[in-house]
Amino acid sequence: MSVTAATVREKLKSIKGPEGVDLAASGKLSDIVVTDGKVFFSLTVDAAQAQAWEEVRKNAEAAVRSIPGVASVLVALTAERTGGAARSPQPSRESQRAASPRPGASPTGTARAVPGIESVIAVASGKGGVGKSTTAVNLALGLRDLGLKVGVLDADIYGPSMPRLLAVKTKPEMIGGHTLRPVEAYGMKVMSIGFLVDEETPMIWRGPMVMSAITQMLREVEWGTLDVLVVDMPPGTGDAQLTLAQQVPLAGAVIVSTPQDLALIDARRGIAMFRRVDVPVLGLVENMSYFLCPHCGKRTDIFNHGGAKAEAEKTGVPFLGEVPLDAEIRETSDSGLPVVATRPDSPHAKVYREIARRVRGELERGRTGGKVAPKIVIES
Ligand SMILES: Nc1ncnc2c1ncn2[C@@H]1O[C@H](COP(=O)(O)OP(=O)(O)OP(=O)(O)O)[C@@H](O)[C@H]1O
Ligand SMILES: [Mg+2]
Repeated sequence: MSVTAATVREKLKSIKGPEGVDLAASGKLSDIVVTDGKVFFSLTVDAAQAQAWEEVRKNAEAAVRSIPGVASVLVALTAERTGGAARSPQPSRESQRAASPRPGASPTGTARAVPGIESVIAVASGKGGVGKSTTAVNLALGLRDLGLKVGVLDADIYGPSMPRLLAVKTKPEMIGGHTLRPVEAYGMKVMSIGFLVDEETPMIWRGPMVMSAITQMLREVEWGTLDVLVVDMPPGTGDAQLTLAQQVPLAGAVIVSTPQDLALIDARRGIAMFRRVDVPVLGLVENMSYFLCPHCGKRTDIFNHGGAKAEAEKTGVPFLGEVPLDAEIRETSDSGLPVVATRPDSPHAKVYREIARRVRGELERGRTGGKVAPKIVIES
């Protein structure tokens, strides 16, 4: 018998919240998503009562897990935005991204290290579609080629990219009833919400759920021992990103930008945001920097090439490298055959490996205290 949302809802009638009301009647329950026996839902509660609800969350997970046919359960505890300004869920991706709790309003705790993971780095951008996910994957592979143990966490829960970029078809296994084993791809451990929910399924996330889902993917996944966990962030510099940067112990952020002025303005916002929450900016990558003609080898600076380098100098962050706009990068990326893994001798792979080497250098400098990113407070 296959599990349905209705079966799960029925089961949740047996679990009571702190006020004694059962979960199905509590009004706290989100939509229940069931895919291939994998159950996912959230409970939206008052942040002040988060402690009390944590117990309920665990009970709910245990109850749902006991339903025959349930392969795994993920229950996210989320807090409503406090102090007014609550936003209703919006249908568009961008507006969903904008809605989020106030920094610190999440019940899921504060930044503390993830046992076994040496450094967590974020690959971020102010603007969408600049090639963050492509950079994140190839950077991760470049770090792998340096001999590091690498994991990739897809924190873009609105539009997860890792199933596609790494051609992952398998699902993470549930171990010990509560922890997920990450998927292995190209010698790296990978976790994405896209592995749990069908990529085609439109996902409506209420702002506060974001933090909870990401925290669980970070902490309730058996990452084992990793030198670096590369986090592919959702685009933008809204509250969601700020909250994330505060909750997750980040060793640093890599900002990806295209060379156009508009993208660079967004990149600057990204840099300012990470600095504001004391996350060192490891550097800036200029993606789609120039076009190298595959036929004649002529280089064309389509956009104002070099803008990111100038921006890096202006804002005092390291410049990590420039990646050309190239059909091979797009094709390999979009078909799950990332260029660093599948064409390791290509000039593009070399570019990414060099970026990885610089990132490692920055991480080492950060650890030895040789360099601390200057703290600049920019009010937005
Ligand atoms: N250097 C490049 N040359 C050619 N195509 C590229 C390059 N970098 C990325 N792309 C392509 O651009 C598109 C967007 O890239 P990607 O998904 O990595 O961007 P993103 O910043 O993560 O987007 P989002 O904001 O939606 O998460 C993809 O089709 C990708 O293959
Ligand atoms: Mg992306």
